[in-house]
Amino acid sequence: MILHQEPFWFLNTKNTSYVIRVLPNQTLQHIHYGGRVSADDFSYYNVFQDRAFSPRILMGPICTSHDIMPLEYPTFGRGDFRAPALRVEGLDGRDVNELQYKSYEIISGKVHIPRMPQLDVNVDDVQTLAITLEDVIVGYEVVLYYSVFENEDIITRTVEIRNTSNGAIRINNIASLSVDFESADFDLVSLEGSWARERHICRRALCQGTTSLESRRGSSSHQMNPFLALADKHTSEHWGGVYGFSLIYSADFKALAEVSQYGDTRVQIGLNPETFSWKLEKGDSFMAPEAIMTYSDKGFNGMSHNFHQACRNHLGKSADPSVKHPLVINNWEATYFNMSDEIIKQFLDDCKGLGIDTFVLDDGWFGRRCDDSSSLGDWFVDENKFSNGLHNVVNHCRENGMEFGIWFEPEMISRNSRLFEEHPDWCIHCEGVEPIPSRNQLVLDMSREEVVDHIFEQMAKIIREYNVSYIKWDFNRNLTDNGSSTLPADRQKEHTHRFVMGVYSLMQRLNDTFPEVFFEGCSGGGGRFDFGILYYMPQIWTSDDTDAVERLKIQYGTSMVYPTSAMVAHVSACPNHQTGRSVSFDTRGEVAQMCNYGYELHVGKLATEEKEKIKGQVARHRALDELVQKGTFYRLNSPFDSILCAWELVSEDKEKAYVCATFQTAMPNAKTFYVKAQGLDADCKYYVKPLGITLGGDTLMQAGLPVRMPDAVEYACLAFDLEKVSE
Ligand code: DGJ
Repeated sequence: MILHQEPFWFLNTKNTSYVIRVLPNQTLQHIHYGGRVSADDFSYYNVFQDRAFSPRILMGPICTSHDIMPLEYPTFGRGDFRAPALRVEGLDGRDVNELQYKSYEIISGKVHIPRMPQLDVNVDDVQTLAITLEDVIVGYEVVLYYSVFENEDIITRTVEIRNTSNGAIRINNIASLSVDFESADFDLVSLEGSWARERHICRRALCQGTTSLESRRGSSSHQMNPFLALADKHTSEHWGGVYGFSLIYSADFKALAEVSQYGDTRVQIGLNPETFSWKLEKGDSFMAPEAIMTYSDKGFNGMSHNFHQACRNHLGKSADPSVKHPLVINNWEATYFNMSDEIIKQFLDDCKGLGIDTFVLDDGWFGRRCDDSSSLGDWFVDENKFSNGLHNVVNHCRENGMEFGIWFEPEMISRNSRLFEEHPDWCIHCEGVEPIPSRNQLVLDMSREEVVDHIFEQMAKIIREYNVSYIKWDFNRNLTDNGSSTLPADRQKEHTHRFVMGVYSLMQRLNDTFPEVFFEGCSGGGGRFDFGILYYMPQIWTSDDTDAVERLKIQYGTSMVYPTSAMVAHVSACPNHQTGRSVSFDTRGEVAQMCNYGYELHVGKLATEEKEKIKGQVARHRALDELVQKGTFYRLNSPFDSILCAWELVSEDKEKAYVCATFQTAMPNAKTFYVKAQGLDADCKYYVKPLGITLGGDTLMQAGLPVRMPDAVEYACLAFDLEKVSE
C-alpha cells in the first residue's frame, strides 16, 4: 500500500496511486495523483526550467523556481506566488516560510485528531504515511499525514504543526490538503444552493485564476458544501476521470482550484483563513481537520461510491452496524408551534396502526415557546401546553406502538429566555456591541466549557426522564459578532474553530452517555450536511423543502458525496408548504423512498384514500430499507439536464435493484425515455415489477427500462423493482 523507494513514496489503493518525491534540496515535490502507476523511477517527471518572473533557486545543476514546481505542501514567501497551503507567522512578525524534509514514518492504522470527527472505524488495515518537515526560517515542524484506505480508493489527509521554535507562533492559514496537477483540462464541480435549495450540482470550466468555494457562516452551510471535484472534460456520471475532495468539518471552510500562468492546477481544502488564526505556544501542537480525497475513472458515480463507502465503513456513528434508522413521523409541518396534550394525543391516535417506529415532537415543547421569539436554552417542558410534563404524550406514544423522539436546538439562546436572564454573557457577542439576531435568536458560546456542561445537563435530564430514543438536533442561524469574552485579544480569531470543537464535544458526550439514542442532524434542513455531523449522527434532514419535485435536485445533488443512508426525506402535505405545489401522494412517497423515510403531516387531515396508502408505503420502505442503508446508489438521469430524473439502488449481492424515474413537469406528446440501469449482473435475468417481464441484466443496462409519461399526469413517478431470477 505505502511503498518507499528513495526518493519516492508511492501511496497505492486498489485503483489509484499518489506519488511524492523529496528533491535534492529537501523540498517535497508532488509527482502524480490519479490512476494506478508502477513504482518507476519518476526522476524524468516534472523536470524544471528557468522561467521569467519566477524567482530562481538552484537545484543541483539546474535552476528552477518554486513558482513552477508541483509542490506537495506549498508555503508563502519563497517564490511560489500561487495559493499557499500554510502560512505561519513568527513572534517577530516574519511571514516567510520554507519547509524542508526531515524524516518519515509508516504507521499502521491512523493517527487520532483530538476532539475532531474523522474516519476512525475499521482502520486496522489502513496505513498512514507521516512526513515530517521543518520550517528553516521560523523553526517549527510540520507533519503531513496520509492515510491510505485501499478498498475505497480513499486517502485521508491532515496536517500537524508542532511548535518546536523558541517562542509562540501564529498559524494564519492551514489547508488540510494541497494537490498540484500538471494540467488545467478540468471542469470544476461544486454543490451550491441556499436554504430549501441545497446542494444543486454546478459544473464549470476552469480558467486561469482562482475559483474558491467557501463558508464564513460558522457552519458548513446551505450555500456551499465542503466539497470540490475536478473532472475531465468528457466525464459523465458513468465514465471518465474525476477527483473528489471533501472536508470532515461543520464550520468555515475554503476549497479552491487555482490555474496558474502555465496551465497547471492547484487544489486545496481546509479551514477558511479569513475567519481562522491560531496562536501556538512553544511546545504545543495543532492538527487540521481531516480531508478526504479520492479518484475514480468511472465517472461521478464512481467518485460518489468511494465517498459513500468511506462514510458507511469508517465514519463514527455512520459506520456503526448496530445503528438502526427508525421510520419516523414528525409533527412540525402538521402543528408547527401549536401543541398541547390534546393536540399531540390526537395526532398520535391518527398514527395508530400505520407501522411507524418513532414519533418526533418538534420545536415548541419547552420554555414558553409559542413562536420563534423565545425560550431557546430553556430545555424544560412548557407546563402551559403539557400538564404532566411530557408523560401523557410519551405514554400515549408508547400505547400507540411508537418510540418517543424530541427536538432540540442545543447551540442557541433566545434573548427572551430564563437562560439569557441568568447568563446574558453566554451568547456570542462582541464586547459593547448588540449581537445581531437571526430568526430572533442568538448563538451560545460553545467554546466555553460551562456552557456545554449546562446544555448537556438539561438535555440529559429530558432524555432520562422520558426515555428518549431519538433526538433531532437543529441549528437555525449562522454566526455573527464572532469572538469570545473568555479568549484573550490575540486568540479571538480562534473562536469559530473553538466553537465547533465545543459543539463536537457535546455531541460526543451525548453519544458516549446515551449510546442507544439515535441522533438526526438538521440545520434549517440541510445547512450542515457534512461528514463532520455524520460522524456523530447517522442521518441528516436533507432540506426544509419537502416538495417532492424540488427534492429531486436536492437528493440527486446530495448523493454526489453522501450516501442515501445519510439522507432523510418525509412525505408532507399538499399544497406543499414551501412551494405551494401539489404532487400526488404516490409521487411524494416514491421520491422519499430512496432516503430514510418518514412522514411530516397530519394523518387525520388526509383524504381517506391517502391515509390508506400509508400502510402500503411503510411496507414498501421496509422492503427497500436494506437498499437505502447498504445498496449502491447510481444517478441515472440528471434533473439538472432533463425533465426526467432517474436513480437506482442495487443490493450488494446484485440480487435486487430499485429504479425510480420522476418527471419534473408535464409535457404533451412526450417521448418514451429508456432509462439504462447500472451495476446489475449482466449474465443474469431479472424479473421487472410492475412490467411483469423478465429481462437480462445486460438488456436492462444496455437497452434500458421504458419510462413513458402517463397522459395528463403532472410529476408522474415510475418505480421498478428488479429481482434476480434463477434460470
Ligand atoms: C428547522 C427545521 O429544519 C424544521 O424541520 C423544524 O425543525 C424547524 N426548524 C423548527 O423550528
